[in-house]
Amino acid sequence: MTVKVNRHKNHPLLPLISDKEQLESLAEKFGTPLYVYQAERLQENIKRLDSALKQSIENYRICYALKANTNPHIVSTLFQSVPSMGADCSSPGELYIAQKVGIPPDACIYTGNYESSTELETALNSGVHLNLDDITSYKRLKKIGLPKELSFRLNPGFGEGRFPAIVTAGHDAKFGVPREKIIDAYRHPAEDGIKQFGLQCMTGSGNLKFDYFVQLLKTILEIASSIERELSLQFNYISMGGGLGIPYKEEEEPLNVHELFKEISEVFVRYYGNTNSEWPTLIIEPGKYLVADTGFVLSRVVGLKESYKNFVGLDAGMNTLLRPALYNAYHRIYKVGDPLLSPTHTVDVTGGICENTDRLATDRLLPEISEGDLVAIMDAGAYGFVMSNQYNTRPRPAEVLLINGAPKLIRQSESLDDIFRLCNWDRDTEA
Ligand code: LLP
Repeated sequence: MTVKVNRHKNHPLLPLISDKEQLESLAEKFGTPLYVYQAERLQENIKRLDSALKQSIENYRICYALKANTNPHIVSTLFQSVPSMGADCSSPGELYIAQKVGIPPDACIYTGNYESSTELETALNSGVHLNLDDITSYKRLKKIGLPKELSFRLNPGFGEGRFPAIVTAGHDAKFGVPREKIIDAYRHPAEDGIKQFGLQCMTGSGNLKFDYFVQLLKTILEIASSIERELSLQFNYISMGGGLGIPYKEEEEPLNVHELFKEISEVFVRYYGNTNSEWPTLIIEPGKYLVADTGFVLSRVVGLKESYKNFVGLDAGMNTLLRPALYNAYHRIYKVGDPLLSPTHTVDVTGGICENTDRLATDRLLPEISEGDLVAIMDAGAYGFVMSNQYNTRPRPAEVLLINGAPKLIRQSESLDDIFRLCNWDRDTEA
C-alpha cells in the first residue's frame, strides 16, 4: 500500500493536477499528449513581476521573450493583464506575432543574431527597438538604412544559466559584442549621426540566484558608464535580458522579485543618482518566469517495461517536449489525481520515438504507475510547444488554455495531412 504524504509539494498547479475528473475529460475531448495552460497563473506571474518593478523603478518595461511561447492566446492573455507589456523578438516570425497580438512596435525590442539583410530590413521597417548582435550586423544594416536609435548586445565575458547549454554569454557563447569591443561598436553609429542608444545584455537562462542579477547589473552599468563617458552619449534604455528562473524542482525556492528589483534600483542609484525619473528605462525580457509554470504536458501511460532498466512509456516523447533530451533538463512528473503519492520505483520515462535519447526523465523516483494512467509533465509552458517537432512523422499536439477552469482549444493538434500539406505531392501527377 502506498501512503499519501505531503512532501512539501507546492507547485502552483497542484490543485489542477489533483483533479482527475477534469483532466480525464480534457484527455478524452482533446486527446493526448496535450499541452494544458492555466490563464490565472499567467496573469498572476506577469502582475507579480509588474508590481515588483513598479515598486522600485519609475521607467521600466517588461518585454516578454516570445521565443518561450508564441501561442497568440498565451501572449494576448499576458498582454491584457499588463497592457504596458512589450515583446522581445528574435526573428521575423516573432515580430509577426507581436504585431498580430497588437503589441505596439515601440514596446518591442528585436534581438537577432547573425541577422541576414532581409531580416534586418524587416526589423528596421517594423519600427521596433533594434538590438544588434555584432558590429558586422551594423555594417549590413547600414546598407539598408539607419534607425533613429540603436542598441548592441553586450557579452560581458561571463554568463550563468541553469545548465551550461543555456548560458548565453562568456567566452564560449556565440552571442553579443565582447566587452573589449563594445565602445568601438557604438563609435560607428555615433559617427554616422545616430543619437539615441540602448544597451542590452542577456547572459543565461533559468537563474534562481538573486545575487547574480545584482552583480550582473553592476557590470552592465559599469560598462554603460564607460561607453557614455568615452563617446559622450546617454543611454535611453538598459536591458538586462531575461534569465529569471523558476523552481523546476520541489526543493527550490522561487525568486523574490520584489526584493530583487529593490536591490536593482539601489544599483541604479549608484550609477545614475537619486532621481529615478532620470535613469535610463530598465527593460527586462523574461520568458521562463512568465510562462514556464503555467503549462504542463498531459500524457497517457502506454506501457511499462522491465528491461535492463525499468521504463514508463508515454504517448509524449522528445518530439513533444525536447528539453530533457536536449539538455537533460528536469521536469517534475506527477501522477494525475494523486500528485502527492510517495515515490516507490526508479524508472526512465520515455516516449515512442525511435531514438535512445528519447527521455522525459532518467532514473526518476516515481510512485506506482499503471498502463492507462494520466501523468502531467510540469513546467512545460516555456520552451515546450515551441521546441516540439514532427520527428518520426508524429503530428504536434493540441494546446488548451483553461480560463476559470473552462477549456479553450488554442491550437488544434496537427494531422498527418498537415505534415505533408506543403510538399504538394500527388502520386498521380508525379508519376
Ligand atoms: N532575451 C534574449 C535576448 C534571449 O536570448 C533569451 C533567451 C531571453 C530573453 C529569455 O530568457 P528566459 O527569461 O526565458 O530565460 N531553450 C532554452 C532557453 C534558451 C534561452 C535563450 N535565450 C530552455 O529551454 O531552457
